[in-house]
Amino acid sequence: MALWGGRFSGSADEALRQLNDSLPFDRRMALQDVAGSIAYARAVGRAGVITESEAGQIVAGLEQVREEFLAGAFVFAAGDEDIHTAVERRLTEFIGPVGGKLHTGRSRNDQVATDFRLWTLDALAGLDERLADLQGALAGTAETHAATLMPGYTHMQPAQPITAGHWLMSYFWMLARDRDRLRDCARRTAVSPLGSGALAGTPFAVDRATLAAELGFASASPNSLDAVADRDFAAEALFALALAGVHLSRFGEDVVLFSNPSFGFITLDDRFSTGSSLMPQKRNPDPLELARGKAGRLIGNLTGFLTVLKGMPAGYNKDLQEDKEALFDSVDTLSLILPVLIAVVRSLRLNPDNMRAALSDDMLATDLADYLVRKGAPFREAHHIVGRAVAQASQRGIGLPALSLSDLQELSPAFDPDVTAVFDFEQSVARRAAQGGTAPEAVRAQIAAARAWLNGFAAPA
Ligand code: ARG
Repeated sequence: MALWGGRFSGSADEALRQLNDSLPFDRRMALQDVAGSIAYARAVGRAGVITESEAGQIVAGLEQVREEFLAGAFVFAAGDEDIHTAVERRLTEFIGPVGGKLHTGRSRNDQVATDFRLWTLDALAGLDERLADLQGALAGTAETHAATLMPGYTHMQPAQPITAGHWLMSYFWMLARDRDRLRDCARRTAVSPLGSGALAGTPFAVDRATLAAELGFASASPNSLDAVADRDFAAEALFALALAGVHLSRFGEDVVLFSNPSFGFITLDDRFSTGSSLMPQKRNPDPLELARGKAGRLIGNLTGFLTVLKGMPAGYNKDLQEDKEALFDSVDTLSLILPVLIAVVRSLRLNPDNMRAALSDDMLATDLADYLVRKGAPFREAHHIVGRAVAQASQRGIGLPALSLSDLQELSPAFDPDVTAVFDFEQSVARRAAQGGTAPEAVRAQIAAARAWLNGFAAPA
C-alpha cells in the first residue's frame, strides 16, 4: 500500500508507477533526506508536537537508516515510490509505528524541495573545487608561456600577436565568473523550505529558523506556497553550469584547432589523444570535442527545465519532479569533463616555434599605424596610410617590412628611419603593457592577480 493509499481502494496501475516513481533517480538524495528528517524530528520534538522520547527514537532509527545507506546495505522495497517513502518505510521497520509520527506537519513537497536544495549545495561546492583546479592549471601553464608569442585572432583571421599566456588566462577569467555565479546561486539555494507543509505552512509551532540553521541553511523561506514550488535555484544552477560548459566548449574548440597539424601550436599528450581505427597517423582530440559536444546537453537541460516551469500554476505540481534528472545530469556531465580538462591543461605541450612561425608581418599593420599616431597623425588617417602600404606590399608580393623607407615616405612624410623598429613581434606585444594587456609583464601581473583571486575565493556556502 502506498504512503498515500488510505483514500484508494486499489493499488496504482503498473504503467502509472513506472511513470510516477522517482526512486530510480532521487535515491541520490538519500543522505539529504535522512539529514532533513533528523532535523525535522528534532524540530517537532522541540515544538512539543511529539514527545522528546518519540523524537529520540525517530532520530536513532534514522541514524540506523543512514548507516545502511553509508554501508551500501540499504535494500529498496518493491513499493518504494521515491526516496522519501523509502526512508520512512525503513524507519518504521526499525522503530515500529512511532516512525509514522515523523511526517507530522510535513509534506513530501517541502521535504523534496529541502532535500534537493541540500543536494544542490553539495554539488555546487564540488564543482566549484574542480573549477578552481582547472583555473590553477590554466594559471600554471600560462605562467610558463607568459612570453610565448602566438597569433591572436578576430573573425578567426590573424589579427595581432599575443602571448600564449594571455590566451590561456582568458579562460581563467571566464571560469572566475562561472564560479562567482555558482556562489551566487548557492546563496539563493541556501534557503530552507522545511516547515512549509504541502503549500499552506505548518499548523504546528515549529521553529523554522532553528530547523533551517541546523541543516546548514542561511534562512527559512518567507512564503510556504512559493517555497514548495520554487525551483529557481535549480534553473539558476542549470544556467551557471550550462554557461561554464559553454566556456569549456570554446576552450575545447581552441585546442581542437590549435592541435590540428595545420596550426601545430599544441601537441596533446598521448594520454589525452585517441587514434583512428582506419588512419594510422591520426591523433584525435576526443576529450576536447567531448567538452564541446557536452555543452549541448548542458544547454538542453537548462532549456528543457525552463520549459517545464513556464506553464505551471502556483504551488507544487508533479511536473517539478523533472527538476532532478536535469540537474543531476548537468552535474554529472561537468564532473566527467573537468578532471580530464584539468589533466589536459596540466600536460598541454605548446610548440613556441610553430606559434611564432604563424605570425605574419601584416599582423603588425596596427603597430605601423600606431607609429604614425605617435608622430602626430590622427589614427583614422594613419589607418588609411597603412592600408595603402599593405595593399602595395601585397601587390608586389612582399611583406610590409620589405617596403623601403622611400616607399613609405611617398605615402606619408611622417615615416622616419626608426620605422624599422616597428617590425618586431616582441616589441609589439611588449607595448601592450597596460593592465589587462598581452605584454609578458602585464600577463605576469594578471597571473599574480588571478592567484590572489583564487586564494581569496572560498567555496560556496
Ligand atoms: N518525488 C516527488 C518529487 O520529486 C516528491 C514530491 C511528491 N509530492 C507529491 N505531492 N506527490 O517531486
